[in-house]
Amino acid sequence: MKALIVFGTRFGATAGTSEEIAKVLRAEGFDVRVVNAKKEKIKDISEYELVIVGSGMKIGRWTKEPEKFLDKFASELAKKKLALFVSSAPQITYEHQNDEEKKEWAWNKYLVEKTEKYGLTPIAMAIFGGWVNMETMGWLDKKMGRFLIPELEAAGVKNENGVYDTRDWDAIRAWAKELAQKVRA
Ligand SMILES: Cc1cc2nc3c(=O)[nH]c(=O)nc-3n(C[C@H](O)[C@H](O)[C@H](O)COP(=O)(O)O)c2cc1C
Repeated sequence: MKALIVFGTRFGATAGTSEEIAKVLRAEGFDVRVVNAKKEKIKDISEYELVIVGSGMKIGRWTKEPEKFLDKFASELAKKKLALFVSSAPQITYEHQNDEEKKEWAWNKYLVEKTEKYGLTPIAMAIFGGWVNMETMGWLDKKMGRFLIPELEAAGVKNENGVYDTRDWDAIRAWAKELAQKVRA
């Protein structure tokens, strides 16, 4: 079974998440192609049974390229098994604060809004963690990203060499495994 993972990233976290999802799917017997949509344009998706589209978030926005992909292939994607995910470093702080309102807001704004805009019915969606990487961000992103740090620290996220990584690898792997089972069902 052929699967395509198309992702967009600004700071790099979504690349790692995409590779981890691919690893799980490959172990489940899928033939997986992972594409960084900023580096490569997809021209044809007819050979794929499963398509996963992921993006990092910044100021409430997806990266441009995966959104363009959704737009371009909307009618084909509507007939395929599709899954969507985003990387959101602050999601863990909403969990920590038990802030159901913010969680619901993010779910609707980051995911449901896209399905409505492009007429899609994904079989799975997820908001995973991301990272605030003080080592690799430009000065403006660093300045803005700094505001996230007190809440990340309050939620127990550790700074490792200037990186606050909020990705829960077990949750990512479990989602990918469940997705494989759904596709086969
Ligand atoms: C300037 C800035 C703005 C951000 N804005 C958001 C946001 O609006 N919503 C969100 O969930 N995460 C936000 N984040 C955290 C990102 O989601 C996190 O850095 C994630 O790793 C981004 O994915 P990427 O690393 O693949 O680009 C922001 C981070 C920075 C540095």
